[in-house]
Amino acid sequence: MTGCSGGDWPWRQTIEHSFIRFKMFQLVKIFSLVLLAIGGAYAAAGQLQQVTNFGSNPTGVQMFVYKPARLATPTPLIVAMHYCTGTAQAYFQGTQYANLADTHGFIVVYPDAPDSGGCWDVHTTGTLTHDGGGDSLAIASIVRYAIQNWGVDASRVFATGTSSGAMMTNVLMGAYPDLFAAGSAFSGVPYGCFAGPDMWNSQCAQGQLIKTPQQWGDQVRSGYPGFTGTRPKFQFWHGTADTTLYPQNFWEDIKQWTNVFGVSQTPTSNTTNDPLRGYSRASFGPNVQAILAQGVGHTVPEQANDVLTWFSLSNLAPGPQPTTVPPTSVPPTSVPPTTVPPTTVPPTTVPLPSGTPVAHWGQCGGIGWTGSTVCASGFTCTKLNDYYSQCL
Ligand SMILES: *[C@@H]1O[C@H](CO)[C@@H](O)[C@H](O)[C@H]1NC(C)=O
Repeated sequence: MTGCSGGDWPWRQTIEHSFIRFKMFQLVKIFSLVLLAIGGAYAAAGQLQQVTNFGSNPTGVQMFVYKPARLATPTPLIVAMHYCTGTAQAYFQGTQYANLADTHGFIVVYPDAPDSGGCWDVHTTGTLTHDGGGDSLAIASIVRYAIQNWGVDASRVFATGTSSGAMMTNVLMGAYPDLFAAGSAFSGVPYGCFAGPDMWNSQCAQGQLIKTPQQWGDQVRSGYPGFTGTRPKFQFWHGTADTTLYPQNFWEDIKQWTNVFGVSQTPTSNTTNDPLRGYSRASFGPNVQAILAQGVGHTVPEQANDVLTWFSLSNLAPGPQPTTVPPTSVPPTSVPPTTVPPTTVPPTTVPLPSGTPVAHWGQCGGIGWTGSTVCASGFTCTKLNDYYSQCL
Protein backbone atom coordinates (compact mmCIF):
# COMPACT_ATOMS: atom_id res chain seq x y z
CA MET A 1 0.00 0.00 0.00
CA THR A 2 1.54 3.28 -0.91
CA GLY A 3 1.00 6.97 -0.86
CA CYS A 4 0.59 7.33 -4.54
CA SER A 5 -3.08 6.90 -3.77
CA GLY A 6 -2.88 10.40 -2.38
CA GLY A 7 -2.67 11.93 -5.79
CA ASP A 8 -5.08 9.88 -7.71
CA TRP A 9 -8.40 10.89 -6.27
CA PRO A 10 -7.44 14.57 -6.25
CA TRP A 11 -7.30 14.35 -10.03
CA ARG A 12 -11.06 14.23 -10.14
CA GLN A 13 -11.37 16.81 -7.40
CA THR A 14 -8.90 18.99 -9.24
CA ILE A 15 -10.98 18.94 -12.37
CA GLU A 16 -14.08 19.81 -10.38
CA HIS A 17 -12.34 22.71 -8.69
CA SER A 18 -10.81 23.98 -11.87
CA PHE A 19 -14.26 23.78 -13.36
CA ILE A 20 -15.53 26.31 -10.87
CA ARG A 21 -12.85 28.73 -11.92
CA PHE A 22 -13.72 28.73 -15.59
CA LYS A 23 -15.76 31.54 -17.04
CA MET A 24 -19.41 31.08 -17.98
CA PHE A 25 -18.85 30.86 -21.72
CA GLN A 26 -16.63 27.84 -21.17
CA LEU A 27 -19.08 26.03 -18.95
CA VAL A 28 -20.76 23.82 -21.49
CA LYS A 29 -17.51 22.59 -23.00
CA ILE A 30 -15.86 22.03 -19.65
CA PHE A 31 -18.94 20.45 -18.14
CA SER A 32 -18.90 17.71 -20.72
CA LEU A 33 -15.20 17.16 -20.03
CA VAL A 34 -15.89 16.83 -16.31
CA LEU A 35 -18.64 14.33 -17.02
CA LEU A 36 -16.25 12.36 -19.18
CA ALA A 37 -13.59 12.34 -16.50
CA ILE A 38 -15.81 11.62 -13.54
CA GLY A 39 -18.15 9.24 -15.26
CA GLY A 40 -15.23 7.36 -16.76
CA ALA A 41 -17.03 7.85 -20.04
CA TYR A 42 -14.10 7.22 -22.34
CA ALA A 43 -16.31 4.42 -23.54
CA ALA A 44 -14.84 2.01 -26.01
CA ALA A 45 -17.09 -0.07 -28.22
CA GLY A 46 -16.18 -3.35 -26.52
CA GLN A 47 -15.41 -4.75 -23.12
CA LEU A 48 -12.36 -5.84 -21.17
CA GLN A 49 -11.72 -9.56 -21.17
CA GLN A 50 -9.62 -11.42 -18.65
CA VAL A 51 -6.75 -13.54 -19.95
CA THR A 52 -5.59 -16.52 -17.89
CA ASN A 53 -2.76 -19.01 -18.32
CA PHE A 54 -0.62 -16.53 -20.21
CA GLY A 55 2.67 -17.84 -18.84
CA SER A 56 4.97 -17.33 -15.88
CA ASN A 57 3.19 -15.24 -13.25
CA PRO A 58 4.79 -15.79 -9.84
CA THR A 59 2.96 -12.99 -8.03
CA GLY A 60 -0.54 -13.57 -9.42
CA VAL A 61 -0.98 -10.48 -11.58
CA GLN A 62 -4.37 -10.48 -13.32
CA MET A 63 -4.47 -9.60 -17.00
CA PHE A 64 -7.24 -7.97 -18.97
CA VAL A 65 -7.22 -7.21 -22.68
CA TYR A 66 -9.11 -4.82 -24.91
CA LYS A 67 -9.20 -6.00 -28.52
CA PRO A 68 -11.04 -3.68 -30.88
CA ALA A 69 -13.32 -5.19 -33.53
CA ARG A 70 -10.95 -4.09 -36.29
CA LEU A 71 -7.22 -4.72 -35.87
CA ALA A 72 -4.23 -3.33 -37.71
CA THR A 73 -2.08 -6.11 -39.14
CA PRO A 74 0.42 -6.82 -37.70
CA THR A 75 -1.00 -5.46 -34.48
CA PRO A 76 0.81 -3.13 -32.07
CA LEU A 77 0.28 -3.63 -28.34
CA ILE A 78 0.10 -1.09 -25.53
CA VAL A 79 0.43 -2.22 -21.91
CA ALA A 80 -1.42 0.37 -19.77
CA MET A 81 -0.78 0.27 -16.03
CA HIS A 82 -2.92 1.73 -13.27
CA TYR A 83 -1.95 3.83 -10.25
CA CYS A 84 -2.02 2.69 -6.60
CA THR A 85 -5.53 1.78 -5.44
CA GLY A 86 -6.42 1.55 -9.12
CA THR A 87 -7.50 -1.46 -11.13
CA ALA A 88 -7.33 -2.60 -14.72
CA GLN A 89 -11.00 -1.69 -15.07
CA ALA A 90 -10.48 1.80 -13.64
CA TYR A 91 -7.60 2.52 -16.00
CA PHE A 92 -9.61 1.11 -18.92
CA GLN A 93 -12.48 3.46 -18.12
CA GLY A 94 -10.44 6.46 -17.01
CA THR A 95 -8.09 6.72 -19.98
CA GLN A 96 -8.63 6.98 -23.70
CA TYR A 97 -6.45 4.09 -24.86
CA ALA A 98 -9.33 1.69 -25.54
CA ASN A 99 -11.38 4.02 -27.71
CA LEU A 100 -8.19 5.04 -29.50
CA ALA A 101 -7.69 1.31 -30.09
CA ASP A 102 -11.09 1.33 -31.84
CA THR A 103 -9.82 4.09 -34.11
CA HIS A 104 -6.32 2.78 -34.77
CA GLY A 105 -6.54 -1.01 -34.39
CA PHE A 106 -3.96 -1.74 -31.69
CA ILE A 107 -4.54 -4.01 -28.67
CA VAL A 108 -4.41 -2.74 -25.08
CA VAL A 109 -3.50 -4.96 -22.13
CA TYR A 110 -4.42 -3.70 -18.67
CA PRO A 111 -2.60 -5.60 -15.92
CA ASP A 112 -4.10 -5.56 -12.43
CA ALA A 113 -1.70 -5.45 -9.47
CA PRO A 114 -1.98 -8.30 -6.93
CA ASP A 115 -0.85 -6.13 -3.98
CA SER A 116 -3.62 -5.38 -1.47
CA GLY A 117 -3.00 -1.66 -1.89
CA GLY A 118 -3.23 -1.92 -5.65
CA CYS A 119 0.38 -0.81 -6.20
CA TRP A 120 2.93 -2.41 -8.46
CA ASP A 121 5.98 -4.19 -7.09
CA VAL A 122 8.73 -1.90 -8.31
CA HIS A 123 11.14 -2.55 -5.42
CA THR A 124 12.15 -6.23 -5.29
CA THR A 125 15.31 -7.49 -6.92
CA GLY A 126 13.14 -10.00 -8.78
CA THR A 127 10.92 -7.41 -10.43
CA LEU A 128 13.97 -5.26 -11.27
CA THR A 129 15.74 -8.16 -13.00
CA HIS A 130 15.14 -9.55 -16.48
CA ASP A 131 13.14 -12.77 -16.05
CA GLY A 132 13.78 -12.49 -12.32
CA GLY A 133 10.19 -12.74 -11.13
CA GLY A 134 7.94 -10.18 -9.48
CA ASP A 135 5.08 -8.33 -11.12
CA SER A 136 7.24 -7.32 -14.08
CA LEU A 137 7.68 -10.95 -15.14
CA ALA A 138 3.91 -11.36 -15.46
CA ILE A 139 3.82 -8.35 -17.76
CA ALA A 140 6.69 -9.76 -19.82
CA SER A 141 4.76 -13.06 -20.00
CA ILE A 142 1.59 -11.45 -21.35
CA VAL A 143 3.64 -9.57 -23.96
CA ARG A 144 5.25 -12.82 -25.10
CA TYR A 145 1.85 -14.51 -25.08
CA ALA A 146 0.33 -11.71 -27.16
CA ILE A 147 3.11 -11.96 -29.74
CA GLN A 148 2.67 -15.73 -30.00
CA ASN A 149 -1.13 -15.87 -29.93
CA TRP A 150 -2.66 -12.61 -31.07
CA GLY A 151 -0.51 -11.61 -34.02
CA VAL A 152 1.11 -8.79 -32.08
CA ASP A 153 4.01 -7.10 -33.82
CA ALA A 154 7.05 -7.81 -31.60
CA SER A 155 8.69 -4.59 -32.79
CA ARG A 156 5.74 -2.43 -31.70
CA VAL A 157 5.05 -3.20 -28.05
CA PHE A 158 4.71 -0.20 -25.73
CA ALA A 159 4.24 0.52 -22.04
CA THR A 160 2.55 3.41 -20.29
CA GLY A 161 1.21 4.07 -16.82
CA THR A 162 0.38 6.55 -14.11
CA SER A 163 2.07 6.94 -10.72
CA SER A 164 2.79 3.37 -9.59
CA GLY A 165 2.09 2.36 -13.20
CA ALA A 166 4.64 4.95 -14.31
CA MET A 167 7.18 3.44 -11.94
CA MET A 168 6.44 0.06 -13.50
CA THR A 169 6.92 1.59 -16.94
CA ASN A 170 10.41 2.60 -15.81
CA VAL A 171 10.99 -0.93 -14.47
CA LEU A 172 9.96 -2.49 -17.78
CA MET A 173 12.21 -0.13 -19.76
CA GLY A 174 15.14 -1.33 -17.65
CA ALA A 175 14.42 -5.02 -17.11
CA TYR A 176 12.77 -5.83 -20.46
CA PRO A 177 14.37 -3.54 -23.05
CA ASP A 178 14.14 -6.46 -25.48
CA LEU A 179 10.32 -6.46 -25.38
CA PHE A 180 9.43 -2.78 -25.60
CA ALA A 181 9.91 -0.21 -28.34
CA ALA A 182 8.95 2.81 -26.24
CA GLY A 183 7.48 3.89 -22.94
CA SER A 184 5.59 6.86 -21.56
CA ALA A 185 5.37 7.42 -17.80
CA PHE A 186 3.08 9.86 -16.00
CA SER A 187 4.43 10.91 -12.59
CA GLY A 188 6.83 8.09 -11.77
CA VAL A 189 10.34 7.65 -10.41
CA PRO A 190 13.60 6.41 -11.99
CA TYR A 191 14.21 2.71 -12.52
CA GLY A 192 15.44 1.25 -9.23
CA CYS A 193 14.56 4.31 -7.15
CA PHE A 194 12.23 2.22 -4.96
CA ALA A 195 14.69 -0.69 -4.71
CA GLY A 196 14.77 -2.10 -1.20
CA PRO A 197 12.75 -4.15 1.26
CA ASP A 198 9.56 -2.12 1.30
CA MET A 199 6.71 -1.49 -1.08
CA TRP A 200 7.05 2.24 -0.46
CA ASN A 201 10.31 4.19 -0.43
CA SER A 202 9.85 7.57 1.22
CA GLN A 203 13.38 8.70 0.46
CA CYS A 204 12.79 8.26 -3.25
CA ALA A 205 9.22 9.52 -3.15
CA GLN A 206 10.29 12.72 -1.44
CA GLY A 207 12.99 13.37 -4.00
CA GLN A 208 15.86 12.74 -1.60
CA LEU A 209 17.43 9.83 -3.45
CA ILE A 210 20.04 11.65 -5.52
CA LYS A 211 22.48 9.74 -7.70
CA THR A 212 24.93 10.54 -10.45
CA PRO A 213 23.90 9.87 -14.04
CA GLN A 214 26.45 7.04 -14.10
CA GLN A 215 24.96 5.42 -10.98
CA TRP A 216 21.40 5.68 -12.31
CA GLY A 217 22.50 4.40 -15.71
CA ASP A 218 24.38 1.49 -14.14
CA GLN A 219 21.23 0.58 -12.25
CA VAL A 220 19.25 0.36 -15.51
CA ARG A 221 22.01 -1.69 -17.13
CA SER A 222 21.92 -4.09 -14.16
CA GLY A 223 18.28 -4.88 -14.99
CA TYR A 224 19.36 -6.95 -17.96
CA PRO A 225 23.12 -7.46 -17.84
CA GLY A 226 24.60 -8.13 -21.23
CA PHE A 227 21.71 -6.64 -23.19
CA THR A 228 23.13 -5.10 -26.36
CA GLY A 229 20.02 -4.46 -28.44
CA THR A 230 18.20 -1.22 -29.14
CA ARG A 231 16.70 0.21 -25.99
CA PRO A 232 13.14 1.54 -25.85
CA LYS A 233 12.85 5.27 -26.21
CA PHE A 234 11.34 6.83 -23.17
CA GLN A 235 9.07 9.79 -22.45
CA PHE A 236 8.19 10.90 -18.93
CA TRP A 237 5.80 13.51 -17.54
CA HIS A 238 5.87 15.16 -14.12
CA GLY A 239 4.12 18.00 -12.31
CA THR A 240 6.17 20.63 -10.49
CA ALA A 241 3.64 20.66 -7.62
CA ASP A 242 3.77 16.90 -7.03
CA THR A 243 3.99 16.20 -3.29
CA THR A 244 3.50 12.43 -3.57
CA LEU A 245 6.45 11.70 -5.85
CA TYR A 246 8.42 14.91 -5.67
CA PRO A 247 9.49 16.55 -8.95
CA GLN A 248 13.15 15.88 -8.13
CA ASN A 249 12.34 12.45 -9.55
CA PHE A 250 11.85 14.14 -12.93
CA TRP A 251 15.41 15.48 -12.82
CA GLU A 252 16.78 12.14 -11.61
CA ASP A 253 14.92 10.46 -14.50
CA ILE A 254 16.66 12.84 -16.92
CA LYS A 255 20.04 11.90 -15.45
CA GLN A 256 19.21 8.23 -15.71
CA TRP A 257 17.91 8.00 -19.26
CA THR A 258 20.35 10.47 -20.82
CA ASN A 259 23.11 8.32 -19.33
CA VAL A 260 21.52 5.12 -20.68
CA PHE A 261 21.37 6.63 -24.16
CA GLY A 262 24.76 8.31 -23.81
CA VAL A 263 23.48 11.80 -24.56
CA SER A 264 23.94 15.18 -22.93
CA GLN A 265 21.77 16.29 -20.02
CA THR A 266 21.29 19.58 -21.81
CA PRO A 267 18.10 19.41 -23.88
CA THR A 268 18.46 19.47 -27.64
CA SER A 269 15.15 21.34 -27.68
CA ASN A 270 12.65 22.55 -25.14
CA THR A 271 9.30 23.88 -26.30
CA THR A 272 7.02 25.75 -23.95
CA ASN A 273 3.23 25.45 -23.71
CA ASP A 274 3.54 22.02 -25.31
CA PRO A 275 1.22 20.14 -25.35
CA LEU A 276 -0.72 22.28 -22.88
CA ARG A 277 -0.34 25.74 -21.43
CA GLY A 278 2.30 25.64 -18.69
CA TYR A 279 3.85 22.41 -19.91
CA SER A 280 7.32 22.25 -21.46
CA ARG A 281 8.60 19.44 -23.64
CA ALA A 282 12.37 18.91 -23.42
CA SER A 283 14.03 16.49 -25.83
CA PHE A 284 17.43 14.94 -25.37
CA GLY A 285 17.89 13.60 -28.86
CA PRO A 286 15.24 11.29 -30.34
CA ASN A 287 15.08 8.77 -27.48
CA VAL A 288 14.47 10.77 -24.31
CA GLN A 289 11.68 13.28 -23.80
CA ALA A 290 10.91 14.97 -20.48
CA ILE A 291 7.69 16.93 -20.09
CA LEU A 292 7.39 19.18 -17.06
CA ALA A 293 3.94 20.43 -16.10
CA GLN A 294 4.19 23.73 -14.27
CA GLY A 295 1.92 23.93 -11.23
CA VAL A 296 0.44 20.46 -11.77
CA GLY A 297 0.30 18.05 -8.84
CA HIS A 298 0.83 14.30 -8.66
CA THR A 299 -1.72 13.32 -11.23
CA VAL A 300 -0.75 14.70 -14.60
CA PRO A 301 -3.77 13.83 -16.78
CA GLU A 302 -2.80 11.19 -19.34
CA GLN A 303 -2.39 12.72 -22.80
CA ALA A 304 -3.24 9.59 -24.74
CA ASN A 305 -3.02 11.21 -28.18
CA ASP A 306 0.39 12.60 -27.34
CA VAL A 307 1.49 9.19 -26.13
CA LEU A 308 0.34 7.65 -29.42
CA THR A 309 2.46 10.19 -31.29
CA TRP A 310 5.48 9.18 -29.19
CA PHE A 311 4.72 5.54 -30.02
CA SER A 312 4.37 6.44 -33.75
CA LEU A 313 0.82 5.04 -33.78
CA SER A 314 -1.09 8.22 -34.66
CA ASN A 315 -1.48 7.27 -38.30
CA LEU A 316 -2.14 3.60 -37.70
CA ALA A 317 -5.31 2.39 -39.37
CA PRO A 318 -7.20 -0.84 -38.69
CA GLY A 319 -7.97 -3.33 -41.42
CA PRO A 320 -11.51 -4.33 -42.43
CA GLN A 321 -13.77 -5.86 -39.86
CA PRO A 322 -13.32 -9.63 -39.90
CA THR A 323 -16.28 -11.49 -41.39
CA THR A 324 -16.35 -13.79 -38.39
CA VAL A 325 -17.61 -10.97 -36.20
CA PRO A 326 -21.32 -11.60 -35.57
CA PRO A 327 -23.71 -9.04 -37.08
CA THR A 328 -24.84 -7.93 -33.63
CA SER A 329 -21.47 -6.35 -32.95
CA VAL A 330 -21.29 -2.58 -32.82
CA PRO A 331 -20.62 -1.19 -36.30
CA PRO A 332 -17.58 1.04 -36.52
CA THR A 333 -19.64 4.10 -37.38
CA SER A 334 -21.19 4.08 -33.93
CA VAL A 335 -17.85 4.32 -32.16
CA PRO A 336 -18.05 7.39 -29.94
CA PRO A 337 -15.79 10.37 -30.61
CA THR A 338 -12.38 9.40 -29.41
CA THR A 339 -10.60 12.54 -28.41
CA VAL A 340 -10.93 15.14 -25.75
CA PRO A 341 -9.09 18.11 -27.27
CA PRO A 342 -5.96 18.43 -25.14
CA THR A 343 -6.21 22.20 -25.01
CA THR A 344 -9.40 22.00 -22.97
CA VAL A 345 -7.78 20.11 -20.11
CA PRO A 346 -7.24 22.56 -17.27
CA PRO A 347 -3.45 22.87 -17.12
CA THR A 348 -3.13 23.81 -13.49
CA THR A 349 -4.22 22.14 -10.31
CA VAL A 350 -6.05 23.74 -7.48
CA PRO A 351 -5.35 22.09 -4.13
CA LEU A 352 -8.41 20.86 -2.34
CA PRO A 353 -9.13 23.33 0.46
CA SER A 354 -8.12 21.58 3.65
CA GLY A 355 -11.47 22.35 5.25
CA THR A 356 -13.77 20.85 2.58
CA PRO A 357 -15.42 17.80 4.16
CA VAL A 358 -14.66 14.49 2.48
CA ALA A 359 -17.63 12.25 1.70
CA HIS A 360 -18.12 8.72 3.00
CA TRP A 361 -15.41 6.38 1.64
CA GLY A 362 -13.24 9.27 0.45
CA GLN A 363 -9.54 9.63 1.27
CA CYS A 364 -8.77 11.97 4.16
CA GLY A 365 -5.10 11.41 4.90
CA GLY A 366 -1.91 9.44 4.42
CA ILE A 367 1.65 10.17 3.37
CA GLY A 368 1.57 12.46 0.40
CA TRP A 369 -2.08 13.40 0.88
CA THR A 370 -2.58 17.12 0.34
CA GLY A 371 -6.37 17.19 0.36
CA SER A 372 -8.89 17.68 3.09
CA THR A 373 -8.52 15.78 6.35
CA VAL A 374 -12.05 16.58 7.53
CA CYS A 375 -14.84 14.07 7.00
CA ALA A 376 -18.46 14.89 6.29
CA SER A 377 -20.64 14.84 9.37
CA GLY A 378 -21.30 11.37 10.70
CA PHE A 379 -18.02 9.92 9.37
CA THR A 380 -14.62 9.58 11.00
CA CYS A 381 -11.25 9.83 9.32
CA THR A 382 -9.90 6.34 9.95
CA LYS A 383 -6.25 5.43 9.38
CA LEU A 384 -5.98 2.24 7.32
CA ASN A 385 -2.20 2.44 6.98
CA ASP A 386 0.51 5.11 6.77
CA TYR A 387 -0.49 5.92 3.24
CA TYR A 388 -4.23 5.89 3.34
CA SER A 389 -6.89 7.17 5.69
CA GLN A 390 -10.54 7.00 4.75
CA CYS A 391 -13.81 8.57 5.91
CA LEU A 392 -15.70 5.65 7.45
C1 LIG B 1 12.21 23.59 -20.32
O1 LIG B 1 11.83 24.95 -20.26
C2 LIG B 1 10.96 25.28 -19.18
C3 LIG B 1 10.54 26.71 -19.36
O2 LIG B 1 11.65 27.55 -19.41
C4 LIG B 1 11.69 25.03 -17.87
O3 LIG B 1 10.85 25.33 -16.79
C5 LIG B 1 12.08 23.57 -17.80
O4 LIG B 1 12.84 23.33 -16.64
C6 LIG B 1 12.91 23.17 -19.03
N1 LIG B 1 13.11 21.73 -19.01
C7 LIG B 1 14.29 21.16 -18.86
C8 LIG B 1 14.29 19.68 -18.84
O5 LIG B 1 15.32 21.77 -18.73
